[in-house]
Amino acid sequence: MSTDRGSCEMVNVLFSAKPASWDEYEAPLHAAFEKACIDAQLGTDLPPEDVDYIVYAPSGPVSDFTPFTKLKAVLSLWAGVETMVDNPTLHVPLCRMVDHGLTESMVEWVTGHVLRYHLGMDRFITAQDGVWRAGSAAPLARDRKVCVLGLGALGSACAQSLVHLKFDVHGWSRSPKAVEGVTCHHGDAGLRDALADADMVALLLPDTPATESVLNAESISFMRRGGFVVNPGRGPLIDDDALLAALDSGQLAHATLDVFRVEPLPKDHPFWAHPKVTVTPHIAAETKAGTASEVIAENIRRGEAGKPFLHLVDRQAGY
Ligand SMILES: NC(=O)c1ccc[n+]([C@@H]2O[C@H](COP(=O)([O-])OP(=O)(O)OC[C@H]3O[C@@H](n4cnc5c(N)ncnc54)[C@H](OP(=O)(O)O)[C@@H]3O)[C@@H](O)[C@H]2O)c1
Repeated sequence: MSTDRGSCEMVNVLFSAKPASWDEYEAPLHAAFEKACIDAQLGTDLPPEDVDYIVYAPSGPVSDFTPFTKLKAVLSLWAGVETMVDNPTLHVPLCRMVDHGLTESMVEWVTGHVLRYHLGMDRFITAQDGVWRAGSAAPLARDRKVCVLGLGALGSACAQSLVHLKFDVHGWSRSPKAVEGVTCHHGDAGLRDALADADMVALLLPDTPATESVLNAESISFMRRGGFVVNPGRGPLIDDDALLAALDSGQLAHATLDVFRVEPLPKDHPFWAHPKVTVTPHIAAETKAGTASEVIAENIRRGEAGKPFLHLVDRQAGY
């Protein structure tokens, strides 16, 4: 983050997210703007023709950007931008959220669930039944292969946390990547090796046409029998029917799912009642107002200085 304190710029910043978020973000945004020397008029109801930047979540009131005639950029509060990339009224740069507070939460969530599976915690937590199960200690982490699909801001941080615990970590991305300690694979041709004999897979891919149902009957079959799935990415990354079939056949032992094709997950969805599925309500990692406000301020500072924005979305790639 820059500490460059040139002359303060005057900009109009519209906050367009769900009303409860305004209470959370108003003070941190003001503080971050002051620190970045940005003289901002910040509000939830500015005349559209005056707005320079929109701090944006799709859950807010704006979906048509046409009236914002002098808009310079849309700064997403969300890491996943699949509902924004196809907006035909959006003709200015779109930046997604990369927030180290959010990243830390995701690392904790993914590492926690991988350790839960590795150590077989459920067996002991749910079975306090008087049976002394001797000889059921877990192998070492180094003897478990964990595959992280997606090696971006979140996937690479999660992969590195698992490397520190000495898991045999493989990762997969669209373009070639180097992440310390991680065996990296890329492209369609790399998926099979990334998943081959994996004991666990964590999905941290964006939702794009190219990633839809990346975990399907065929790709699940590459994993070691009795494997585990952790999905904090997006629901459409998984073919739900294939996942259920693999759980029922024993190809997979259990899945923890934080995201779904339809959210909230409908009450009658088979995931809720399935004994081998843990449903969490899209809580793996939230953007944190304090750290995210600093990212937004830095991007406005860059925009005003004519510098390239951080975390610019490639709208053709969809993320
Ligand atoms: N559940 C939650 O609470 C929560 C919170 C935040 C985010 N999320 C989800 O997490 C996702 C990842 O976030 P991020 O910040 O890590 O995104 P990111 O930095 O954009 O990283 C995306 C990664 O996926 C890879 N990828 C994209 N398309 C691919 C393809 N067709 N084949 C192989 N790899 C592909 C990218 O490859 P390259 O490196 O080659 O570009 C990159 O490594 C978000 O899109 C969002 O859906 C969920």
